[in-house]
Amino acid sequence: MKNITSKITSIGSYLPKKILTNFDLEKIIDTSDDWIQSRTGIKERHVVEDELTSDLGYLAAKNALEKSDLNDKDIDAIIVATTTPDRTFPSTATIIQEKLGIKNAFAFDVQAVCSGFVYALDIANNFIKSGSCKNILVIGAETLSKILDWKDRNSCVLFGDGAGAVILSKSEDESGILSSILYSDGSFGDILQTDGGVSLNQKAGAITMVGKEVFKNAVEKMTSSVLKSLELANLTIDDLDHVVSHQANIRILNSVAKKLGLKEDQAIIAVDKHANTSAASIPLALDYYLQNHKIKKGSIVVMNALGAGLTWGSIVIRW
Ligand code: ACO
Repeated sequence: MKNITSKITSIGSYLPKKILTNFDLEKIIDTSDDWIQSRTGIKERHVVEDELTSDLGYLAAKNALEKSDLNDKDIDAIIVATTTPDRTFPSTATIIQEKLGIKNAFAFDVQAVCSGFVYALDIANNFIKSGSCKNILVIGAETLSKILDWKDRNSCVLFGDGAGAVILSKSEDESGILSSILYSDGSFGDILQTDGGVSLNQKAGAITMVGKEVFKNAVEKMTSSVLKSLELANLTIDDLDHVVSHQANIRILNSVAKKLGLKEDQAIIAVDKHANTSAASIPLALDYYLQNHKIKKGSIVVMNALGAGLTWGSIVIRW
């Protein structure tokens, strides 16, 4: 008997209108377009003006629903990966549920920072494999601009706002999620964190980061998790068609691609346009890529990420 699995049946995204280029940043902090591009590959990022994380997530989810054959009554669950929720509670997922007018679904948030989308997709896959859900909206939505210290040039140039959403549905054929692996190691907590929190000081805080340590761990752990997830799917690197990694920065993406021995066009890149949008970056990059390209049915696609925690993981999908 075929194992029940799930597949992505629709993808949507939303970016706030306002674009901040590196040249705009030159006017507010001591930096340069040349420094930012050479260290990160980032040219510009979108930032919210008066929109909330739930607005971005709602519009990305609406976009995914409009592109699908489904309507709101078909959605059994809404899982939102975010580290920048509208409020401490209720969850951003339930706020998006209300905006979408979805009544027959349960909704909750997942907090795994930049790995949030990979975590949320794996959780959704397990709900579908267990038979309790058929269609799940998995959303990554972030307003990282709200937890940046805009005077700290080490961190504020790296991030952007946006949202991406997929509909994960029960697969009726051979396509779908073949394997997934998640990891975390709390001993790395202090290399990437905020200096605030509800329990700590009743503030959201701003991002602080030991950049070189994050870089080293990202390359090593993203590479090894891709290889482990392929092994779990009984595949090798030669079977791989596309990699959609968390878009942290181009040097991390290039180092992972080099270690894996990928060809130039196998890694999907959007960090130049979006910067690091944390849990939103994978579905945003995928939707951006699909605006001009097609992924052939049967292709092997890997999604992988590393985020604060540290958390990391990888998912193998037959498209
Ligand atoms: N503009 C100009 N100069 C800057 C800027 C800036 N925006 N930011 C830092 N600098 C300066 C520093 O002050 C330092 O100056 P100093 O030597 O006089 O003290 C110098 O640049 C540091 O330069 P490098 O050593 O070349 O910096 P490095 O190569 O380490 O690059 C970076 C820094 C880009 C942060 C790198 O460490 C990195 O990519 N780390 C990963 C961080 C990341 O992606 N985090 C995102 C969250 S985690 C995730 O999503 C996986």
